[in-house]
Amino acid sequence: MENIEQKIKKLREQLRDWDLFYYVENFPKVSDVEYDVVMMQLRELETQYPELITADSPTQSVGGKVQNSFSKVRHKVPMLSLDHIFEDDSLLAFDTRVREKLKYYDSINYCCELKLDGLAVSLLYKNGELILAATRGDGTIGENVTKNVRTIPTIPLRLKDDGNIPNLIEIRGEIVMSKANFLRINETAKKEKGKVFANPRNAAAGSLRQIDPTITANRSLNCFCYGVGLIDKETLPTSHWELLQQFKKWGLPVSNIICLCTGYNEIIKFYRHIHNTRHLLDFNIDGIVIKVDSLLQQQQLGFITRAPRWAIAYKLPAKEKLTIVKNVEFTVSRNGTITPVARLEPVLFSGTSVSNASLHNLNEIKRLGLMIGDTVVIRRAGHVIPQIVNIVMAQRYTKKTSPIIFPKLCPVCGSKLEKEKNTISCIAGLVCDAQRKEKLKHFISRKALNVNGIGNKIIDQLVDRQLVQTTADLFRLNQDKLTSLDRIGHKSAQKLLDALESAKRTTFARFIYALGIREVGETKAAYLADYYINISSLMVADITSLINVKDIGIIVATNVRNFFNQQDNIAVINDLLSPQIGLKW
Ligand code: IVH
Repeated sequence: MENIEQKIKKLREQLRDWDLFYYVENFPKVSDVEYDVVMMQLRELETQYPELITADSPTQSVGGKVQNSFSKVRHKVPMLSLDHIFEDDSLLAFDTRVREKLKYYDSINYCCELKLDGLAVSLLYKNGELILAATRGDGTIGENVTKNVRTIPTIPLRLKDDGNIPNLIEIRGEIVMSKANFLRINETAKKEKGKVFANPRNAAAGSLRQIDPTITANRSLNCFCYGVGLIDKETLPTSHWELLQQFKKWGLPVSNIICLCTGYNEIIKFYRHIHNTRHLLDFNIDGIVIKVDSLLQQQQLGFITRAPRWAIAYKLPAKEKLTIVKNVEFTVSRNGTITPVARLEPVLFSGTSVSNASLHNLNEIKRLGLMIGDTVVIRRAGHVIPQIVNIVMAQRYTKKTSPIIFPKLCPVCGSKLEKEKNTISCIAGLVCDAQRKEKLKHFISRKALNVNGIGNKIIDQLVDRQLVQTTADLFRLNQDKLTSLDRIGHKSAQKLLDALESAKRTTFARFIYALGIREVGETKAAYLADYYINISSLMVADITSLINVKDIGIIVATNVRNFFNQQDNIAVINDLLSPQIGLKW
């Protein structure tokens, strides 16, 4: 027991330390997932040993601390939290619970909103005039941020009088910063060596809690109102939806993404829609909030300690997850650059299993201080290769870890490696099978010669069995060579040969791109094609001429020149354009 108590104490201290940074300094020390893992460990222990729960445990508070520089405000109606769920089954359970409690009603309507990722604010209007604005703080005591809130353009200092304004009404909402604004502010901060924020939520909090309100005014904060706290008389509409419409009439900012749903299936539809379109929103959200629409029904359901029974937050899947680095391997790119790749214990991101993360270069490994066996936070934004955000240091000493050894020789061809700044490269060129394979894959890719049906596995076999050495060799493939590969019959071989045949008719721009010259992507390839018209002029172009081409600077010009200085490359181009192969545009 002694041990458990100590463990609980340690977890609480850890969370309090992180809270301090998060809420007071507006700069998180750790990522959300790391925080959640420790919070979960504490919750689990407290569930097992309820006698050890204390009122001041981080599990019992809604988070947030009052900073000293602002005067304190006691919320007459506490600013509570929301219970949250992560899966459809829990939503079904919520709906069932609500319907059981309200079994005398035929159907229950829900008003679904976005769960905005900002900071909660309370706006007190007396006779229609904004007299007090406060942060949530710990839910009971917040900070007086009236002067700062007054500078937020969308928050009215006076409500529009529609003859319906109560003498006293406390509006609750979320203060947020748009993604675009966040990027702009950080960009300026970087230039001026100022404070860079970790995410829009921290930027919103940091901008609001400025001693000098003129700074807040310059941060273009926004606000969306979603509820009522204190009210002097019950003159409100009868449903949450209508309440939001009333807010709009008073000139209060309300999100226009709200959806009135009847029953579970409609809520799921809204959730899926938001999940699929969240990247299009101007603001960060972390889920949707489902609220029983009728205010009378809300009253009948009431509250549990920290949260209402009539609402729940359905969180969107996290973009960050924890996993373990099983190994770090070194891959060789088309141009010989050696790239470290972390092989991970597979984790699911919205149903897709992720088992690799890019480490970019040596510097990235040094920056992270990564070791094999480390527990790491990985982030997957959109559909790009996931990145390692940071290492969970607390886990390092509980697991077996080992240092990452950088290769001295090319892991594929065994040639010597060259190091330049943070990049190591195999300079063996086409002697290196890895580079040969990558060059071939690039040559036939969609934006290059677009040869349908030849996948990576076929290229790997063609090179491993020495059936193809150069890109020109692809056009010398025949039925015999192709059917000697795994699982390729006559029919599929013929399809591949037909695809190769039609790829011979291409464009000059595609051909230049297909050559795989360092840093010449499809746009630069198109500019080169426009400028030089034919390959012989491009092959002899010098740097002075090349830098006249749109978008081509000295570095790319040098890459182009170096490429055509290599006799091997010229030989392959001549081969491709020879009458025997007959590539043309
Ligand atoms: S209603 C009593 N609606 O989420 C319930 N909250 O976890 C009061 N939040 O402190 C909250 N968007 O800061 C509500 N549409 C929304 C919200 C929302 C974001 C935040 C709010 C609250 C926290 C609860």
